[in-house]
Amino acid sequence: MLPAYLPNSIAAVFGGGKPIDGGRTMKDGSRILGDGKTIRGLFAGTLCGMLLGLFQMYYFTQNSVIFGVVLPTFGSGLAALVVLFTLAFGSLIGDLSMSFFKRRMGFKRGAPLPVIDQLDFVMGAWLLTFIVSPYWFLSNFTPNIVIAVLIVTPLLHVSTNIVGYFIGVKKEPW
Ligand code: CTP
Ligand code: MG
Repeated sequence: MLPAYLPNSIAAVFGGGKPIDGGRTMKDGSRILGDGKTIRGLFAGTLCGMLLGLFQMYYFTQNSVIFGVVLPTFGSGLAALVVLFTLAFGSLIGDLSMSFFKRRMGFKRGAPLPVIDQLDFVMGAWLLTFIVSPYWFLSNFTPNIVIAVLIVTPLLHVSTNIVGYFIGVKKEPW
């Protein structure tokens, strides 16, 4: 999950600049996505998520066990790169899709939407990865792992966002 987790933090730290929706609003009077979804965040997040995955792959060539747990692999060659891309890019697309729905519901940028905010990026990463690499997805995200991720992710998300708020990269602590 690391290549799917990192992009959101990277977007919060390095995002900014031109919004993906180009500042456009829809007929309902609200922005398509809002100023919180930027091109730089999307690019920097995807790139860094993939780089972290490459680093994990390198680590794996040296040592396939960490804290006594046998590590899964992303596969090899192009297939592994594709998995890294769909995990990283998918997580940001999941987050962005929910911003679209938040704007349609009239929520302003940064308004909290509990549970959705904590899991939209997981759903995006899983869905895109499942569509593109179903065999890899099903052999790695077994039911127990899915349950563990669904429990651990909101806790991680809430704690990293509190840190992000205090170091000043996030406007709200959620
Ligand atoms: N960010 C970005 N580009 C993205 C995603 C996030 O630049 N594709 C940055 C923005 O600066 C954003 C911050 O990361 O404010 C935190 O992301 P998030 O909480 O998802 O955005 P919000 O500002 O809360 O906006 P929204 O209400 O749309 O979720
Ligand atoms: Mg938010």
